Amino acid sequence: MFHKEVYIDRRNRLKKEMKSGLALFLANQEASMNYPANTYHYRQDSHFSYFFGLPHAGFAGLIDFESGEEILFGNDLEIDDIIWMGPQPTVCEQAAEVGIFKTLPYNKLAETLQQAGTKGCDIHFLPPYRGETMIELGQLLGFKPSEVKSNASMELIKAVVKLKEIKDSLEIAEIEKAVDIAWLMHTTAMKMIKAGTIEQKIAGTIEGIALQYGGSVSFPVILSQDGQILHNHNHNNALAEGRMCVVDAGVELQSLYASDITRTIPVGGKFNSRQKDIYETVLSANMDSIAATRPGAEYREMHFIAATRITEGLKAIGLMKGNIEDAVAAGAHTLFFPHGLGHQLGMDVHDLEGLGENNVGYDETTKRASQFGTAYLRMGKKLKPGHVITNEPGIYFIPALIDKFRAEGQFMDFINYDKVETYKDFGGIRIEDDILVTETGQRVLGKPIPKTISEVEATANSI
Ligand code: GLY
Ligand code: MN
Ligand code: MN
Repeated sequence: MFHKEVYIDRRNRLKKEMKSGLALFLANQEASMNYPANTYHYRQDSHFSYFFGLPHAGFAGLIDFESGEEILFGNDLEIDDIIWMGPQPTVCEQAAEVGIFKTLPYNKLAETLQQAGTKGCDIHFLPPYRGETMIELGQLLGFKPSEVKSNASMELIKAVVKLKEIKDSLEIAEIEKAVDIAWLMHTTAMKMIKAGTIEQKIAGTIEGIALQYGGSVSFPVILSQDGQILHNHNHNNALAEGRMCVVDAGVELQSLYASDITRTIPVGGKFNSRQKDIYETVLSANMDSIAATRPGAEYREMHFIAATRITEGLKAIGLMKGNIEDAVAAGAHTLFFPHGLGHQLGMDVHDLEGLGENNVGYDETTKRASQFGTAYLRMGKKLKPGHVITNEPGIYFIPALIDKFRAEGQFMDFINYDKVETYKDFGGIRIEDDILVTETGQRVLGKPIPKTISEVEATANSI
């Protein structure tokens, strides 16, 4: 946890953004895995954590925007809990650690909200993403669980996005720590990408590194020689000579700040010439769009710089043809790059995404595109200093998508389908870094992770 002043300041800044009413933040409950007492790794709600800091279940935080009052609801442990969990600080002591001086037992929450409701106060809450929270909010506020999400407060969503999307120096330092641990995860993986190794062995090893350093993975490890499957969580292949392994993995610290890094490594540690050509194309998309990242520019512009480099590279190889600008405008590159360049990163690996992608990545001036591929771009709007975003271009040869586009006669002027057919066994390449937008440009966060062909090969072949 940070010092209590951090949480006091965050709540004060939220009070400045909100006009009236109360905001309710529920801590996440424990979630059962296969029977009630056998729970998943506990994960605090990121918004509760941002404003109230405490890393445990059993709390709710309430902020009154008219009186300025803040209340933490929670129960002190009883002897039965202490037998199983050991002694814990009281709710009052925990509240004081985050600068809150009024506490009430959890069973007073419903009554407090009812009293506020009868006085005509709006109760603002954020859209829940877990069934248990939907049920609890529904019971507390008088909605059916299915109605809860649509009654979430747009005013609170906008205020929380405005505060949380700009990272301060403490938060940036946390994200850099998370990237530094990802450095060890990725360089360890690079040395293990050898023919015959089962992918799960590498996935388990790097997940172990995340755990060893006191965190957990920030999302289930994506690791496969079938890199054309964008989010492949199946790790059962034995790695084969001539293929490449996409490793997309990061760590979430106890503070919840995350990293999200992708590297692509040739099995056996040497790229062949076909792989080199595609790799250099993805690398130029990554490097050139990073170099262009700066405050005031729309992130969508970075996406199209990457799309243009990909189209140029594929044309030079003979997989695409025609006028580059026309091909990108038509969306022909989406056969190979069918996703967006990236997303915001923070306490969630897709930061703030639970508040609605369009509320986070778009605004009044930048609207989401509907074109296939570009529609998956999670972030399009203007960049500001303090934004942390990922940059993750890729080129994939997805046999089903190639067959579909060809059968539909799509982009015949821009795609050399006969040549593309010969790449159906290629897999995919993605390269992903975590980028801070600074006052004047950008900075790639954390210890540099081998990325060029010579760096990746050197690391893969080192002991
Ligand atoms: N790790 C998933 C992503 O890169 O968005
Ligand atoms: Mn990723
Ligand atoms: Mn990502």
